[in-house]
Parts: sequence; structure tokens; C-alpha cells
Amino acid sequence: MHSQPKLKLAPSILAADFARLGEQVLEADTGGADLIHIDVMDGHFVPNISFGPLMVEVCKKVTALSLDVHLMIDQPERFFESFARAGATSLTVHAEATNHLHRAVQHIKDLGLKAGVVLNPGTPLEFLQPVLTDVDLVLIMSVNPGFGGQKFIENALERLRTVRGWIDRENPACDLQVDGGITLETIVRAKEAGANVFVAGSSVFGNGQIRQNLTDLRLALLETV
Ligand code: DX5
Ligand code: ZN
Repeated sequence: MHSQPKLKLAPSILAADFARLGEQVLEADTGGADLIHIDVMDGHFVPNISFGPLMVEVCKKVTALSLDVHLMIDQPERFFESFARAGATSLTVHAEATNHLHRAVQHIKDLGLKAGVVLNPGTPLEFLQPVLTDVDLVLIMSVNPGFGGQKFIENALERLRTVRGWIDRENPACDLQVDGGITLETIVRAKEAGANVFVAGSSVFGNGQIRQNLTDLRLALLETV
């Protein structure tokens, strides 16, 4: 019998108003966020460019929350040291983006950070298995990465259910994160499927009502069994 994993909200700053970034990260912090999710994109692995280690440094200045860095970049190992120096708490790498997933995970842990592995919606779950007992976090994408504001892909639910079973058996301390299209409605279904960390961009920052949105998402999580 495993204890219920802690449910955590991870606002993605990709959807924040960058002209008021410090203020908005602070509002997320005091408004009930558990982590700050930072989406790094290189224009190669995904068809969009966002920001790099400097953004981690900026967030570090305004919040003491854990900084959860999602690396949507090819050969992410080239930048692990930079993100560690910038103040990242965890680095999550796409299994599709490196030829050396196992080494990448060890490298992140050697830097003293938490290690995460993430799969795109079209990647077989079996890619997780060789590193499942080594990682602190598994992220199941519920959109194809690259952009905020996309629609939740339903196959994520079945994938979350399968991975929750593996985690409970093999590495119960590991977090199971879901990212993409999380709303008041999909967050409930993702929780029921076994996720315990919920990344949300548009539904937290979209209308600027950050504190209220976080409260609503938290209530949606708590009101359901
Ligand atoms: C997608 C990113 C997500 C994105 C989520 O590539 O990994 O973290 O910011 O945005 P929403 O919540 O708007 O789908
Ligand atoms: Zn992300």
C-alpha cells in the first residue's frame, strides 16, 4: 500500500506576460504554486524558440520555489552545467533528444539536481523502462511540445495509467507529471489517471488572474477523489 503522492501545481511561465515576469512569478508563488515550470526550446527539437539559462537565473531571483526545467532541445547534455549554475532544481530531458539517455540522467544527478525524463505523445512508453528506477520525475506530454495553448491529447490518460502502475511498483518516490492542455476539466482526469504534478501555462497565466486560477485548479483537484 503506497501513500498518496503529493499533488503539485507547476505553472509554466511560457504563458506569462514577459513584460511583468517577476511580478507574475511572485503571484504564482504566493498564490499556491508548488514549482515553477520553465520551458526551454531550441528551434530544432521543437519548432519554436523560447529562452535559456538566463530565464532560470531571473526566476531564481524572485522565488524560492523549485525551478522545474523542461529541456526541449537537441543534445540537452551540452547545457546541463549552465542550467545547474543558473539555479535549476530539476532538469527533464526528452528521450527523443539524446542518444545517451542513461548517461544524461546520471550526469544530471552528478550535478546534484533532480533528473526527469519526458516522452512525446507518439513515443513508446517502453523508452522509460531502462531509467525508471533512476529518475525523480517522469513527464508524459499531453500535447506535442513547442507551443502553449494546445488541446489536451486524450491518449495521455491511458499512458499516465500505465506509467503510474510502473512507478508504484518500481520507484514510488518518483513524481508523475503531465504537461499540455491542462484545464479545470483535464486536470481532474489526469489526476484520476495517476498524475501528481500538473503543468499549466494558459490556464494559470492566460487571463492574468494568476492567484484565482491557481485556487480554482487546486479546488478542482481537491473536490474529486
Ligand atoms: C509545451 C510546453 C508546455 C506549455 C503548456 O511545449 O512544454 O509546458 O507551456 O502550455 P499550456 O498549459 O498552455 O498547454
Ligand atoms: Zn513544459
